[in-house]
Amino acid sequence: MSIESLETIVARRRTFAIIAHPDAGKTTLTEKLLLFGGAIQMAGAVKARGDARRARSDWMKVERERGISVSASVMSFDYADCSFNLVDTPGHEDFSEDTYRTLTAVDSAVMVIDAAKGIESQTRKLFEVCRLRDVPIATFINKMDREARDPFDLMSEIEEALALDVTPASWPIGMGREFKGCYDLIRDQLILIDRVKGGATLTDSVQCKGLDDPKIAELIGDEFAQKLREDVAMVRGLCPPFDAEAYRAGHMTPVYFGSAVNNFGVRELLLGLADYAPSPRPQKAATREVQPNEKKVTGFVFKVQANMDPNHRDRIAFVRLCSGHFKRGMKLTHLRSDKQIAVNNAVLFLARDRELAEDAYAGDIMGIPNHGTLRIGDTLTEGENIRFLGVPSFAPELLQRVHIGDPMKVKHLRKALEHFAEEGASQVFKPMLGSEWVVGVVGALQFEVLAARIEAEYGLPAKFEDAGIQAARWVECDDAVALKKFTDANRGALAEDHDGALVFLARNAWHLNRAQEENPEIRFVKTREQNKAVA
Ligand code: G4P
Repeated sequence: MSIESLETIVARRRTFAIIAHPDAGKTTLTEKLLLFGGAIQMAGAVKARGDARRARSDWMKVERERGISVSASVMSFDYADCSFNLVDTPGHEDFSEDTYRTLTAVDSAVMVIDAAKGIESQTRKLFEVCRLRDVPIATFINKMDREARDPFDLMSEIEEALALDVTPASWPIGMGREFKGCYDLIRDQLILIDRVKGGATLTDSVQCKGLDDPKIAELIGDEFAQKLREDVAMVRGLCPPFDAEAYRAGHMTPVYFGSAVNNFGVRELLLGLADYAPSPRPQKAATREVQPNEKKVTGFVFKVQANMDPNHRDRIAFVRLCSGHFKRGMKLTHLRSDKQIAVNNAVLFLARDRELAEDAYAGDIMGIPNHGTLRIGDTLTEGENIRFLGVPSFAPELLQRVHIGDPMKVKHLRKALEHFAEEGASQVFKPMLGSEWVVGVVGALQFEVLAARIEAEYGLPAKFEDAGIQAARWVECDDAVALKKFTDANRGALAEDHDGALVFLARNAWHLNRAQEENPEIRFVKTREQNKAVA
């Protein structure tokens, strides 16, 4: 291996996520991106062999049984001299908390929009999450091979709905049956769709000398060439020119038009990410900002997943490396427990396979198998006492009591609930009075998933029932006397979360308001950094 500096290696990394409303084409686009990266042989059919294939299909079986893609997997591939880490976000809105945390681990995002539909509800929500963290976004307007909305309309909708500068990176020529291709405005190339071969073909691009190049009319006809020139003149008048800095700061989105299913426009998107998307960004820790080029390894856990391999009850902690060069066997300090762990069996996710991580760098995502030591929000370092910020827990919006028929199995139930809480699949509260646990989630579907998992993984038929609780708030207070007074007076409404932090369970909005008014020194908080040390 040639000796490359850490800076060069890190600068090549592009860690990104795809966000989309369900059905916009996220899965299709992911497949085509992997095809370019050589990570899969044939898009649409994952043809791994032997063990790898079985491992993968088992993993997928779990997801199929749950009826929804619950996991956010990671796929790494190389293209155009860059190492891409694509972190998949769960599409269903009930898993927004998971999605939020996934977006803490990426440096940029690709927003896929269905050209016939424009911005949809989920696109907007996901976009808001990206904005909270200044995650730069490239936009891919998909399904141009179908009847689509006017591209000018789509551009102005993005600009207005998301309050973002938009600029076309490519411009479509026709649409639906008449869709000829795009003009790549960054590279001055004509990219034509290959209708004859159809399917997953790689189209060639034709280098042009600007829009007046006679080659264009020869290839697409006078009428389309004329319209293209007019459109581009107009859109250039309406939109600011592409500004890589504004994009990387999260203020501008370059817009690519294409058709993922025809593998059209995907290469240009990928080249755009290689050329302009940010390499690993500095990460905020409680005491300082960590730079990706620092020599020592640091990272944080943004997701924990159970059952990726049904033969083991291991969990995998997904760790985003923030700095340094990780080498297999390295000892890392787990800050929450203040213990050292030797990381021998971390894996990297090479699309269809998982591979032991020999080396990994800032921006990479490693999976570390463990038995519950590593939790969401945990920091790993080579010894330095820092804690990364920004991996929050949200106060759950739905709360139910969990009930099992057999009282002898209460211990098992507790274990199951604690596991799910550590995975971030739900939150669990142990009331100060009474013995039944309260489970909190963000979306109703999660109760169904949890009940199914408690049954499948722990053999317990559990039922969720209305708990008469409408809101949960973490309780914080700097004054120990006031806190004790509040605690003594409200035992019936207080509980502990799985980290031992105090939580107020309100029967309704009125109950919460009254508690706030009567106890001005207490803070009732809706989001909390994961694994914040409990005083
Ligand atoms: P998602 O992950 O965002 O939910 O979307 P997914 O990729 O599953 O795509 C949703 C549907 O849209 C699929 O059709 C897919 O084939 C289709 N699609 C994706 N990209 C394009 C495109 O560029 N043009 C057209 N015309 N269709 C596209 P489906 O009927 O639900 O499934 P399938 O049977 O075709 O796989």
